[in-house]
Amino acid sequence: MLMGKKILLGMTGGIAAYKIPDLVRRLKERGAQIRVVMTNNATQFITPLTLQTVSGFPVHLDFNPETENQINHIELARWADLILIAPATANFIAKLAHGFADDLLSTICLATTAQIAVAPAMNQQMWKAEVTQNNLNLLKKRSFLIFEPADGSQACGETGKGRLLESLQIIELIEIFYTKNTILKGKTVLITAGATREDLDPVRFISNRSSGKMGYAIAQAAQQAGAKVILISGKTNLTPPQFVDFIEVYSAQEMFDAVMKELEELKINIFIGTAAVADYRPIRSENQKIKKNQDIMTIELERTPDILANVAKLSPRPFVVGFAAETQEVEKYALSKLDKKNLDLIAANQVGIPNQGFDSDNNVLQVFWRDGSIELPHAPKSEIAKQLIEIIAKRFLMTF
Ligand code: C5P
Repeated sequence: MLMGKKILLGMTGGIAAYKIPDLVRRLKERGAQIRVVMTNNATQFITPLTLQTVSGFPVHLDFNPETENQINHIELARWADLILIAPATANFIAKLAHGFADDLLSTICLATTAQIAVAPAMNQQMWKAEVTQNNLNLLKKRSFLIFEPADGSQACGETGKGRLLESLQIIELIEIFYTKNTILKGKTVLITAGATREDLDPVRFISNRSSGKMGYAIAQAAQQAGAKVILISGKTNLTPPQFVDFIEVYSAQEMFDAVMKELEELKINIFIGTAAVADYRPIRSENQKIKKNQDIMTIELERTPDILANVAKLSPRPFVVGFAAETQEVEKYALSKLDKKNLDLIAANQVGIPNQGFDSDNNVLQVFWRDGSIELPHAPKSEIAKQLIEIIAKRFLMTF
C-alpha cells in the first residue's frame, strides 16, 4: 500500500527522535520513498548521518547551501504527497498553527499543498496546556491530521499523555490516509451517535441500550471517504475514530444544542442522526437522591426536542439522514418517518433480533429514500457503514 508513496519526514527537537530511524526503516521496507528534513534542535538528539543511512538520501538541514543547491525547499514541498512531522514539539505545533516560516521545515509546510500529519511528542503538562490544545484545534480546522500521542511513562519521569506513537501505530495511520477514497472530499458531515441520558436525580438517569457502534462506524467510514467529520456522541464505551472532531454530550438537550451550534458555525453538507435520543425526559431532575418511601412512584415525563426533524426544517439545510430502530413493521414505520420528518434518506434496522442492531458488532439495514430502497445484508457494522456512506454520498451528489 505504501509502495512508491512520497513521504517527507520532518523531525523536530524532542527526545522521541530516537524512535524515528526505526520508523524510517519500516516505511522503506514497505516501499515508501522517504526524504528527511531535520530542524537544528532535532540534530541535538540524533545525527543526520543516522537518518541519511536509513533513508538512503542526504538529510535536509536548516537552509544548508549544499543541499538547497541540489533540491530546494519549494521542490521538496512539491515532491511530497504526505508530510509527516514526527516528533512534533509543542513549539513546532505553535509555529505551524500561526504560519511561521523561520526555518526550512516550517517553510516547506507553508509552501506545500500536500497533506500534513503531525505526530506530537512532549511532556504531559505541555500536551495538556490550553495553548497547545488551542493550537492543535487550529490545525484540525485546517484539516491537518493529528496522530494523537499515547499515554504512559515519559522520558522526563512523569506519566501521562504525550508519548510519540510506536512506529507500527504511525504506519497504520499513514496507511489509513493512503486508503482514503475521495467520494466525500471537501464535504463536512455531522453525525450524532450513542444514547442520551436524562437525569432523575444526581445518581439515576433514563437511557437506552444503544452502544454507539453503528454511529462510530459511520463516522469512520465518512472520514475515510474523504469528509471532514464531526461526531457528537452521548456517553459510550468506545474510542472515537481517528481524525474525527469529537464532542461528547450528556442529555438530548445538550445534543440538540451542540448540533445547532455546529450547524451555525460550519457549512454542514450532510447530517446523519444515528443517536438513540431519549424521546422523553423527567419534567424535574431532583437535586437530592430520591428516597424510596413510596410503594408506587410516578415520574412525569416531557418530550425532548427532535434533533433530526429540527435539522430537516432548516433552510438552507444539509442532506438529512435518519435512523429507525423498530421491533416490527420496519418498512412501514421507516417510510412514515422519512415522510413526517422530511428526510432525504432513512436507514432502518430491526431491533430485538440476536446478533444485529443494538450493541451488536453486526447489523442488517434497509435503506429507503423517496423513490428507491436497498437492503444491506448481515455484515459487520464497519462494512455496513462503508456501504451506507457510499449510498449517502451518491444520493447527496445526485440531489444536492
Ligand atoms: O422518531 P424516532 O425516534 O424513531 O426517530 C429516530 C431518528 O430520529 C434517529 O435518526 C434519531 O437519531 C432521531 N432522533 C432525534 N432526536 C430525537 C429523537 C430521535 O434526532 N429527539
